[in-house]
This record gives sequence, C-alpha cells and structure tokens, in this order.
Amino acid sequence: AELGWPRLDLIPHPPRRLPLIGDVLGANARTPVQDSMRIGSSLGPIFRRKAFGKEIVFVWGAELAAELADESRFAKHVGLGVANLRPVAGDGLFTAYNHEPNWQLAHDVLAPGFSREAMAGYHPLMLDVARQLTDRWDAREKAGRSVDVPGDMTKLTLETIARTGFGHDFGSFERSRPHPFVSAMVGTLTYAQRRNVVPPALAPLVLRGATRRNAADMDCLNRTVDDVVAARRAAPGPGDGDLLDRMLEVAHPETGERLSAENIRRQVITFLVAGHETTSGALSFALHYLARSPEVLARAQAEVDQVWGDAQEPAYEQVAKLRYLRRVLDESLRLWPTAPGFSRQARHDTTIGGEHPLREGAWALVLATLLHRDPAAWGERPEEFDPDRFTPSAVRARPAHVFKPFGTGARACIGRQFALHEATLVLGLLLRRYDLHADPGYRLKIVERLTLMPEGLTLRLTRRARAA
Ligand code: HEM
Repeated sequence: AELGWPRLDLIPHPPRRLPLIGDVLGANARTPVQDSMRIGSSLGPIFRRKAFGKEIVFVWGAELAAELADESRFAKHVGLGVANLRPVAGDGLFTAYNHEPNWQLAHDVLAPGFSREAMAGYHPLMLDVARQLTDRWDAREKAGRSVDVPGDMTKLTLETIARTGFGHDFGSFERSRPHPFVSAMVGTLTYAQRRNVVPPALAPLVLRGATRRNAADMDCLNRTVDDVVAARRAAPGPGDGDLLDRMLEVAHPETGERLSAENIRRQVITFLVAGHETTSGALSFALHYLARSPEVLARAQAEVDQVWGDAQEPAYEQVAKLRYLRRVLDESLRLWPTAPGFSRQARHDTTIGGEHPLREGAWALVLATLLHRDPAAWGERPEEFDPDRFTPSAVRARPAHVFKPFGTGARACIGRQFALHEATLVLGLLLRRYDLHADPGYRLKIVERLTLMPEGLTLRLTRRARAA
C-alpha cells in the first residue's frame, strides 16, 4: 500500500531503477517536466517515476484526467512545486491546504476583485503599462536591434499586476537590472526547490550559505510588501477597490471576518508571483508561434485591424472581440501550459480507470503538457500549432477536461480572466504596430523554474505601415 496506491505494481515505470537515486536514466534536475513528457509518452496515460527518494504517479490520458477533475472524488493536492512555495507564500491562496480557513476567507474576499467590473477598471492601467512596452520596442526597432521577448514580457506582467492590484510601480522598464524584489523572489524559489533535493540531515551543512542568503531574500520580500501596505494605509483612497484595498478593507460578507496582517503579506507575495510568471511565459510562447506562422500572423493582424478600426487604443469590450487572437493564445497554452501540471488527491478511497485503486489522500500529478497532446482528444498531429482547434465547433466536438492550463475545480486559477485580458490586449497592440520576424537560427528551448519559459527567444520587429 505504498503511497496509498495499493496496486502500484500495475502502473508502469522506466526500466532502470537504482536504489536511492531512483530513475536516473534520462533524469535531469533542471528539466523534470520535459523528461517526464518523454518518459510518459512511451509509458502510457498513467506512469510513475522515482526521483530524489520520492515515487510520483503521473496521469496524462484524457479519460483518467477527467476522473481526477471530478470534484466529488478529488481535490487539489498541495505537493511538489506548490509545497515548495509554502515557506514563501504560507497559507496564501495558491499554497493553502484545502482545510485551512484562510483559503475560503481570502477566496470570498478577493473573488470580486476579478469580476467583469473590476477587470474593466484595470483596463486603463494595463494600457499604461503596455505603452511602456511599445515605447521600448519602438526604440529597439528604430535602432535596428532585436527584442528580448521573455525579459520584456516579465517586466510587462510584473508591472501590470503591481499597478492594477496594488497601486505600486516597480519601475521595471527604467531599470537595467531586475528589481531587488524580483531577484529575491527568484532566490527564494530556487532555494525552496533545492531544499527538496538535499536530504534534510545534510541541509544544515550543504545549504548553510544558501540558508543565510534565503533569510536575506525573505526579509527583502517582506520589507517590500510591508512598504507597499504601509504606503496604502498612510494614504488610503487611490486604490479604487483594487486587490490591496480588498485585503485591507473588506470583511467577509457572511462572517464579517477580515484577513490578518500576516496573511495579507502572504497574499501580496502570492499575487505578485502567481500574477506574473505564468502570464509572461504565455505571451512569450504566443509571440514565438506568431512569428513562426506567417498565415496565422496575417490572419490575427487582419482581425485586430478590423475589430479595432481606427481607434488608437482598444476600449475594454474590444479586447474579448479578438476571437482569433484568443485562439492563438489558447493554442500556445495547449502546447506549453506555462504552469505545466497540477496535483489531485482522493477525497476518499476510490478507483480510476476501473483498475487503479487509491486510498483517501493518495495523489497524482496531472501532466498538462501531455494531456494537451493526447491523440485521443487532439488527433494524430498534436505537435502541430493550429489555432483552429479552438473554434467553438471544434471545442464542442472534444471531450470535457482535456484543456487545463488554469487547473481545475474550486482551486483553479482565480486570475484566469485577468491573464487572458492582459495577454490578448498586449498581443493585439503588438500585432497592430509591428510585423514580427523570427530569428531563423532559433530553436525553441524551454527553461523550467516551476513554470515554463522559452529561453533566449528574440524577435526582430518592423513597424507596420498602417499603424499610426
Ligand atoms: C492558481 C495557472 C495567471 C493567481 C492557478 C493554477 C494554475 C494556474 C494551473 C492551479 C494550481 C493548482 O491546482 O495547484 C495560471 C496560468 C496563468 C495564470 C497558466 C497565465 C497564463 C494568474 C494571474 C493571477 C493568478 C494573472 C493573479 C492575478 C492565481 C492564484 C491561484 C492560481 C491566486 C490559486 C487559486 C486558489 O487555489 O484558490 N493558476 N495562472 N494566476 N492562480 Fe493562476
């Protein structure tokens, strides 16, 4: 009954299994997702891997994944990458255990911050930040230089969540090096990941220096966040009901309870991190595919020209009307869901696929990158980039639960509409203004840091004739 899977023997695993090290063959600590994709596509829709002393069950088949999406039998499991973030994000929304009371409290208090009305309020601020990006790209274009796509998308998405959610300006576009908050964030994430692979008994010795630096990084995060909160408390008002206002001012509609100061810290860090890493990756992958697919690019540009007409900048309602561009984004998130997986645990003893029993609490990782390539759902050529997979009729023809870039159920992404609005808006503005030219020598290379990001992606731009 190891792991709560009594018939683990039925679940295939890679051939070479060494004691202690696990399935070393084909394993690289820096590319666990891409390794799992390679291993999983040969082992089948459910498989297991042992790494760093942990046995992990992976699921990617469409039918099995649909069972794990059944909220009456399964719930979110806080494990692996998500658990690694607990030291930083505590019982913030993303890392809270299902039973922690602060999850429901914060969810109910913050959900209205993602309503249609709230989003319409963020729209002008999103445009401000996008303008900083196009100013920068105009200058690069004039100078005949290419642009660093992931770097600039990260600046854009960090500024967007900071300005819209917290009324804070990190000045990313004016800096030549990342803001100290960003370096500290990357430091704590890396440390949390390393803690996972160093045996606890050796940690005090092996990680002594890293532990000291981590303490300094945590201090930096907390100080930055405390400053943002203190500034708002000193001068309330200008937030206009943004996320920080909600955290500070709003009581739970039924219980009247409020978020504690400590929990607010955790939520601010959570939103600053969750609100930018994944969106910047999604934008970067979409730009990669647009630059590589001339027909798709032309069609998306024609749509933007037609829907936005002569307006310099789109009104809120004009963003969701870019239906084709939304499909481009969906198709990019299908091939490279920037949060590449999520974990599900059994609410009670149950069986999946009619043959794999699990005990209450046992869990599996849904590998979205492979689920999104299952030929049973996506046809014989799942590697092909084709936005028309997301026409309404094509979506209706597919089984449910086969496209999960934002997770599933009660713990699915609260920022989904925010991310989609921001990304569609920015892509629309960029396509209206520029033609994109891929570097012919570039081959897609993906870095993993809990999220996925195209490494070293640059593009050359030319201003389009019709853009003002
Ligand atoms: C949860 C993906 C953008 C805030 C999640 C989950 C996924 C996800 C897969 C579920 C994780 C799990 O089950 O363990 C993405 C992707 C994004 C994106 C791919 C962009 C393309 C955002 C944005 C925000 C945000 C913009 C905030 C403004 C959150 C939060 C949770 C979450 C707070 C936890 C929700 C809860 O458990 O109640 N996201 N996300 N995300 N996301 Fe996102």
